[in-house]
Amino acid sequence: MESGYKVYIKKDFNEIDIKKNYDKVLVITDENVKKLYINDFIRTLNLKKKNINIKQYIINPGENSKNLKVYEDIFKFCIENELSRKSLIIALGGGVVGDLSGFIASTYMRGIDLIHCPTTLLSQVDSSIGGKTGINLGNYKNVIGSFYRPEFIYININTLKTLSYNEFLSGISEVIKYALICDYEFLDYLLKNKDKILNLDSGCLIYIVEKCSNIKINIVKKDEKESGIRKILNLGHTFGHGIEKLGGLSHGFAVAIGTHMAFKLAYKKGYINKAYYEKVLSVYKSYDIPITFDGINSIDILKVMKKDKKNSFSKINLVLPTGHSSVDVVDNIDENETINVIEEVRDEF
Ligand SMILES: NC(=O)c1ccc[n+]([C@@H]2O[C@H](COP(=O)([O-])OP(=O)(O)OC[C@H]3O[C@@H](n4cnc5c(N)ncnc54)[C@H](O)[C@@H]3O)[C@@H](O)[C@H]2O)c1
Repeated sequence: MESGYKVYIKKDFNEIDIKKNYDKVLVITDENVKKLYINDFIRTLNLKKKNINIKQYIINPGENSKNLKVYEDIFKFCIENELSRKSLIIALGGGVVGDLSGFIASTYMRGIDLIHCPTTLLSQVDSSIGGKTGINLGNYKNVIGSFYRPEFIYININTLKTLSYNEFLSGISEVIKYALICDYEFLDYLLKNKDKILNLDSGCLIYIVEKCSNIKINIVKKDEKESGIRKILNLGHTFGHGIEKLGGLSHGFAVAIGTHMAFKLAYKKGYINKAYYEKVLSVYKSYDIPITFDGINSIDILKVMKKDKKNSFSKINLVLPTGHSSVDVVDNIDENETINVIEEVRDEF
């Protein structure tokens, strides 16, 4: 990402400024976001650009829409509505809308322009940034996809005010991840400002979205295609993947449990001290984010971990903490150690 792209963080949609001329604009969103925001959003676009030809495509909310059938249906819609290489796709919604729309934009006529307008905390701090797009094939998550840069990302933090509490908390789990990989002061900020954050204080929301997006942009700039340092963004994800898939937990909560496992393993191996280990757990607990689980077999979790597409040469890649807000990628952890730590975290339920 030589020059990068801009992330605008605003309190409404009014300042969205599409400078290029497009023959058509397709806004892709889901049913929930449509009900809340599409009218306001399209009115704003119309006010900014007269005579703009705007189409909408509405998907069903949720992960099940990230599939080949929906991809094909939207492609047919694009062809029927004569979208061309001079057209623009806008993704208005959470990570599901963003990943799907990004993949469509990157493949329709070999790539047309894309703008992300993320509306969940997870998509504002994570999925809209870094250029990953994708859809699932059966049980295999994000196996079909591309790296594709948007023109820009426009975040209206007030959309977070309509998000369900659990979706918001799930996003907070990703926010904590950024503090743990590289910003110890931010960890203290999250502890000190917990009440304001949970009350959706606008100043705090802008601060955390800006902080996290900057951290992610800086990491992705160094390693766009995830061959090295970008892997640290997967803290808690390899362990969490098994919990998410087998336990049906939200992505963010599964990552929090996975992060607990990574921290327990690091503590047992002497990479971090007890005080830091306990402080990190206390942050999750103060937000009431689950860090233990029940009812899933540890061997089954290990099996899912082994299939993680982020592994290399059949070795499980784990991101482990090595000190205050510093982490490293390791691939030499013994399977028994991994199973033990999964079981210990489960036994704390
Ligand atoms: N591309 C990446 O780098 C990357 C990174 C992390 C996750 N992801 C992907 O992101 C997806 C998860 O994203 P998500 O957590 O945003 O889920 P999501 O898109 O399913 O949104 C969660 C729910 O919130 C609703 N919603 C969205 N915005 C709302 C708002 N402002 N108010 C009320 N409801 C709203 C949606 O309709 C949905 O029901 C997964 O598919 C995951 O694979 C991608």
